[in-house]
Amino acid sequence: MRRPIVAANWKMHKTVAEAEDFASAFLPKVTDAVDVDVAVAPPFTALVALGRALGGSRIALAAQNVNPEAQGAFTGEISPDMLVDAGCAYGIVGHSERRALYGETDEFVARKALALLGRDIRPIVCVGETLEQRESKRTFAVIGSQLEGSLAGLPAGRAGEIVIAYEPVWAIGTGRTATPDMAQEVHAFIRGALREPFGAAAETIRIQYGGSVKPDNIDALMAQPDIDGALVGGASLDPDAFAGIVNFGAATGSES
Ligand code: PGA
Repeated sequence: MRRPIVAANWKMHKTVAEAEDFASAFLPKVTDAVDVDVAVAPPFTALVALGRALGGSRIALAAQNVNPEAQGAFTGEISPDMLVDAGCAYGIVGHSERRALYGETDEFVARKALALLGRDIRPIVCVGETLEQRESKRTFAVIGSQLEGSLAGLPAGRAGEIVIAYEPVWAIGTGRTATPDMAQEVHAFIRGALREPFGAAAETIRIQYGGSVKPDNIDALMAQPDIDGALVGGASLDPDAFAGIVNFGAATGSES
């Protein structure tokens, strides 16, 4: 019912030439992946070149960040219009690295998500608990309040356009993935929390899992009822590994 979505978050990796090399190696490996949406978020400097290299394919471009203002004196920032100009279909907002390293609040994340929707770019809104929060049994409280704050003001009529990425902070870049059951438990909680503001639209919102996703753990994650895709950091830098994730289920033939 929900079309899976797998997105690459390259973070601060790859030059223009490296992004182009990735595209030529990756595209031939994912020609059979017709039942999944795929997006790649390179650094801003490689967006236009990667867009050209992916041109004509079904792979969408995504931004790693955005500033909610339309234009103005915001040194170093990138506006939603600039992302439209570069060909972005998706934009990641509220990644835990931006929350932890650059002090981004739920309120700022919500403004970004609304600004993206205003330009018809689909926001990928990230939430996730730290290890300390999990160990002190505050996971649901933390995720619930991140969702409430980061989606504040989102009109229910646009809810189906957003993607939520559940990324436990302790699993990002650590090789320590949440087990499929642990992830499903939080995904089901998120789906329930989305029902309150958005009603039936909550069933259409795709919820990605993120945190050390690899070709060898994607199938078990995707088998869970509320896991609708993945947001992939480290493994997305390698065309073989990312293709292995996009082609989830191919080895067993259980999914496409
Ligand atoms: P990882 O990163 O796959 O390297 O753990 C995921 C993310 O931060 O989106």
